[in-house]
Amino acid sequence: MTGAHRLQQIQPFHVMALLARARQMEAEGRDIVHMEVGEPDFPTPPAVIQAAESALKTQPIHYTPALGLPDLRQAIADYYAERYGVELDWRRVVVTPGSSAALQLAMAALLNPGDEILLPDPGYPCNRNFAYLVNAKPRSVPVHRSGGFRPTAKQIANAWSPATRALMVASPSNPTGTCLSLGELAELAEAISPRQGYLIVDEIYQGLTYGNVDETALSLAFDRLIVVNSFSKYFGMTGWRLGWLVVPDALVEPMDRLAQNLYLCAPTLAQHAALAALNPANRPELDRRRDEFHQRRDFLYTALKSLGFVLGPSPQGAFYLYADCSALTHDSQAFCEQLLEQVGVAVTPGLDFGSNAPQAHVRFAFTTGLDRLQLGVDKIAEFLA
Ligand SMILES: Cc1ncc(COP(=O)(O)O)c(C=O)c1O
Repeated sequence: MTGAHRLQQIQPFHVMALLARARQMEAEGRDIVHMEVGEPDFPTPPAVIQAAESALKTQPIHYTPALGLPDLRQAIADYYAERYGVELDWRRVVVTPGSSAALQLAMAALLNPGDEILLPDPGYPCNRNFAYLVNAKPRSVPVHRSGGFRPTAKQIANAWSPATRALMVASPSNPTGTCLSLGELAELAEAISPRQGYLIVDEIYQGLTYGNVDETALSLAFDRLIVVNSFSKYFGMTGWRLGWLVVPDALVEPMDRLAQNLYLCAPTLAQHAALAALNPANRPELDRRRDEFHQRRDFLYTALKSLGFVLGPSPQGAFYLYADCSALTHDSQAFCEQLLEQVGVAVTPGLDFGSNAPQAHVRFAFTTGLDRLQLGVDKIAEFLA
């Protein structure tokens, strides 16, 4: 065997093979409609680029403190106060290289080898691999279209075992777009509370919500709460690799130690640039982009239904539609491969998101313009015919 046992548990992103094939086909001159990509197609907001240019000229690009630039941590705390009415001590904010590092810090800080973490299935695939990395056990909690892909307090209470330490949920969720209301989160917290567990809420699609209330789990009166967020999605900064956590006071110092050892600090230039991302003056541009995602969602939702995909009520957030394709195929993986080969449309098979009926599901990302989505829909119609 090469390497550690855990390497056998860590699965690749299956969509990456599909993406590689799509790129190869493009290199050969084929036009591919990309509906598999999990990042906004918009460029970095101009104000962020300007701030980065200015920082390059005026700031030393050295290591920052491991928990992040104090100004940025303060600006994140101010953002919660201004936008969500949540007063937060800025010292509870931990700036990380993407929320990917934030999720790893959270798992490293909370889970001993053999401990369990509950994860809704379907869900973001990396989470279970982060658990494996600290020799913990991810436990799937299946969520279904009939229940709006929401885990219930009863399910959590039933799934909780003596080895369980935490529940992690995402709101809005990848791949389903489901948003959990503060009331629903409070019920989950109530189920966890007597069990002395932690609730981790991944809010990295926060701000990309369509027509419903914009909230944060930080409004909950619950102490054992970790909130994860990122500059990647709403702020349109995927490649800048910047995210953050808000943690209880007692976890700040351990997070500092972990961050110092694991990566020293988040990218310094990105931290300076992110100050401009949070500035309220940048908000109209971000909200214009959000409104465009909203239009795309409405278009694609209707189009997919008319093609024979089954969807629940229109998802309230993120930029994905998680569609049941069982009326069209019994093997979503083969379906996605054929769709790509035959008509040049790239979408993600359910396999990447867990073991809860993956063969019956496909994730469509509306991270490309309306004209391309229309073309993709036409091509899928041609394929199905
Ligand atoms: C639910 C969820 N959490 C976390 C991430 C990681 O994002 P990043 O590391 O860019 O902040 C992603 C990326 O797609 C995601 O979908």
